[in-house]
This record gives sequence, C-alpha cells and structure tokens, in this order.
Amino acid sequence: MVKTLINIRPAQIDDASEISGVHDSSWYDAYRGIIPGRELDRMIARRGPLWWKSAIRRGSRLLVLEYDHIICGYASYGRNRVMSLPYQGELFELYLTPEFQGLGFGRRLFNSMREDLARQGYQNLLVWALADNDRALGFYTHLGGREIRRAPEKFGTELRERLAFAFD
Ligand SMILES: CC(C)(COP(=O)(O)OP(=O)(O)OC[C@H]1O[C@@H](n2cnc3c(N)ncnc32)[C@H](O)[C@@H]1OP(=O)(O)O)[C@@H](O)C(=O)NCCC(=O)NCCS
Repeated sequence: MVKTLINIRPAQIDDASEISGVHDSSWYDAYRGIIPGRELDRMIARRGPLWWKSAIRRGSRLLVLEYDHIICGYASYGRNRVMSLPYQGELFELYLTPEFQGLGFGRRLFNSMREDLARQGYQNLLVWALADNDRALGFYTHLGGREIRRAPEKFGTELRERLAFAFD
C-alpha cells in the first residue's frame, strides 16, 4: 500500500511550535533585504509559539501542510479586511519553509484555502504581497491573480509598497 506523505489539515494547539518555526525561517528568507532588519526581527519575535497557540484557540482559519508528519507550510485566511475592495475572502498568509518551496506545496495549500473559503460562501478573494517579493508576485500571477491595488505599508520609519491580487 502506498501511503500519501502530504497532508493538509486545520492547525491544532500542539502545532504551535512547529508553525512558529516555519514562520521564522520563511519570513527571514522572504523578507531579509526587503523589510528593514530591526523591524523584521521585531515582527518575527512577536510570533512565538504562544502567539500561534492563541491564534489557534481563537479559531482563526489556519491550515498546515505536513510532509511525512513534519509541518512545512501554513495558510491563514478569512474575511477581507479592506471593506472598500469588493472581495469577500482574504488570504492573510501563505508560507513554506525554504527547503520545501518550489515543489508544488504552495499551490496545494492555496487550493485547499480556496476550497475552504468557498465552503464558507466566499466566492472571491484577494491577497496582499510586498511589491519587492518577486517570488510571491510571480506565484500569484501564475495562479491567475490579477493586480487590483497598490498601497504603501509602514515598517518603522520606512515605507514599502504592497500589491493586492484578486482571484475571481
Ligand atoms: C510563494 C510560495 C508560497 C509559493 O509556493 P511554492 O510551493 O514555492 O510554489 P509551487 O511550487 O506550488 O508553484 C505552483 C506553480 O506556480 C509557479 N510558480 C511558483 N513561483 C513562481 C514565480 N515566482 N514565478 C512564476 N511562477 C511561479 C510554479 O512554477 C508552479 O507552476 P505549475 O503548477 O503550473 O507547474 C512559496 O515560495 C513561499 O513560501 N515563499 C516565501 C513566502 C512568501 O513570499 N509567501 C507569500 C507572502 S504574500
């Protein structure tokens, strides 16, 4: 019998440390040189296992992707937070440990997130990404996202641009 090594499921409280590890490594890898260093350190330090435990307890929509029982990615999502944009759902975060990127796992998590939002009645969604995050921009464009908005985002005293991609 061939057992599937890849599993996508809702996060549980006991996953908090592993998710925190995925968050740390993927954020440093994605944002070093984009988000000012001290701000990036602060943002990452805030998201320790206790923060994730509390997010899971609150019932935040959070999926994890396991490969051979190791969590190597997560997606968090919910209702669109920018009410002036006519989209129902929002992908808040989609991150994979660097060694597990480029293997099709991002697409799998994205599809599972979309299916779950659709089950909740959300027919479309958007996602924000920093304009300098080429990997994310290429990925969302490849998956059919359409750029609909640009806006500044503040990191400490510095501004960066972010883009919203819509999926209809
Ligand atoms: C962005 C990210 C989630 C993508 O996940 P991934 O597992 O690396 O991507 P996949 O391997 O699933 O790619 C899916 C498809 O997109 C394509 N793709 C991925 N990145 C691409 C890019 N930068 N440009 C063009 N196409 C891209 C792949 O070729 C693949 O195409 P196919 O399925 O038609 O063959 C992942 O790289 C990641 O975690 N990056 C760092 C964190 C980050 O930037 N997250 C987004 C924050 S908004």
